[in-house]
Amino acid sequence: MRTMKCIKTRRSRRMFLEKPVDDGIVKQLIDAARHAPFGGPPKKTSQPWEFIVIRDPETKQKLALHYKDRQSLNQAPLLIAVCADKTRDPKYKEWDITCGLAIENLLLAAHDLGLGACFVTTFSHHEGHKEDREELINALHLPDHIKLIAIIAVGYPDPNEKIEEKELRDVEEIMHNETW
Ligand SMILES: Cc1cc2nc3c(=O)[nH]c(=O)nc-3n(C[C@H](O)[C@H](O)[C@H](O)COP(=O)(O)O)c2cc1C
Repeated sequence: MRTMKCIKTRRSRRMFLEKPVDDGIVKQLIDAARHAPFGGPPKKTSQPWEFIVIRDPETKQKLALHYKDRQSLNQAPLLIAVCADKTRDPKYKEWDITCGLAIENLLLAAHDLGLGACFVTTFSHHEGHKEDREELINALHLPDHIKLIAIIAVGYPDPNEKIEEKELRDVEEIMHNETW
């Protein structure tokens, strides 16, 4: 798929077919993710991202918590928890941004490969969700130096899913010339 078409036609998908996603595809997704830009010199030590591949229904259930809008995590054949290793380059602490770039690569690669995917929050910056976040961290047995950034639900998209039309802000509205 051409890049612009892939970017413009990607949508979050939350309903999936039962078809499993094979390991070769998972590796292609992580390969796309690791090509994102990162802070620091182009060396392995600057790359904070880590990807946990989850297929176990029990773990999925724990990650879905009790929220209706997280149940795509239960239904998806595959979850990828995106994490940052805080010790990789302790000078660059912009883990959310760096992993966010990797996640967008992953989402676009999924779309390009005919899969559907959805970014699901891990409550990194949500007020009042400390306990929910703890549950996610415990479910994944994350050590202290690993920061959980997001969980991505992945699968072959259910063609019956109703996708809400997206309202985009106009380019003219968000574009500022020279200064604010
Ligand atoms: C930071 C962030 C958190 C999100 N959290 C959730 C979530 O917890 N559950 C969910 O179903 N979708 C979540 N999404 C997906 C958004 O709802 C979705 O990207 C947005 O509505 C735009 O739709 P689109 O992805 O189809 O373009 C999240 C996306 C981002 C970037």
